[in-house]
Amino acid sequence: MDLILRDLRTGDRSALERILLASAAFSAEEVAVALELIDLGEEPVADGYRFVVAERGGAVAGYACYGLVPLSDGCYDLYWIAVDPGLHGRGIGRRLMAAVEERLVRQGARWLLIETAGKPEYEATRAFYARVRYQEVARIPDFYRLGDDKIVYGKRLDRRP
Ligand SMILES: CC(C)(COP(=O)(O)OP(=O)(O)OC[C@H]1O[C@@H](n2cnc3c(N)ncnc32)[C@H](O)[C@@H]1OP(=O)(O)O)[C@@H](O)C(=O)NCCC(=O)NCCS
Repeated sequence: MDLILRDLRTGDRSALERILLASAAFSAEEVAVALELIDLGEEPVADGYRFVVAERGGAVAGYACYGLVPLSDGCYDLYWIAVDPGLHGRGIGRRLMAAVEERLVRQGARWLLIETAGKPEYEATRAFYARVRYQEVARIPDFYRLGDDKIVYGKRLDRRP
């Protein structure tokens, strides 16, 4: 089935909320923050939150949210990525990452960075980032909690083959 990658639309909120709630990875607090960003993204402003939504068979299958790191020139953070748990492992996350990277390369971005946690619950997420060729560029031990590091993954977008 064809996958369409497109901008965020106002009607996407409920489908994205369902995907976030169904993702075991996210706490209630994290879902609330993700929804706040979606609400902000519905009214785009310069240098605000940007979204790529994946649609499959007319239904929302996942999304990625990213934005410029304030005061940086060409450095972006990936804030969120989520795929419908029923559709994991079919290449949708990889396509979302590629779509974000393509948009940023066109804008002349240098870095796409992803902050994540070192706790065991995020092991699958870290494996995904490694598969889509992100490298650990920084780590702060015991950042979120004792034993839970902050790990920053990154990819240079201006030095691609
Ligand atoms: C992480 C996530 C976005 C990946 O999406 P996906 O569509 O399942 O991933 P893909 O099918 O595109 O996989 C891309 C590559 O990553 C690998 N990968 C994906 N999930 C993996 C896992 N759980 N363990 C190991 N490797 C994994 C795939 O094998 C694939 O590698 P390959 O193409 O070289 O074979 C998805 O699992 C998800 O929504 N997780 C919950 C939310 C989350 O953790 N978000 C990140 C924090 S904001």
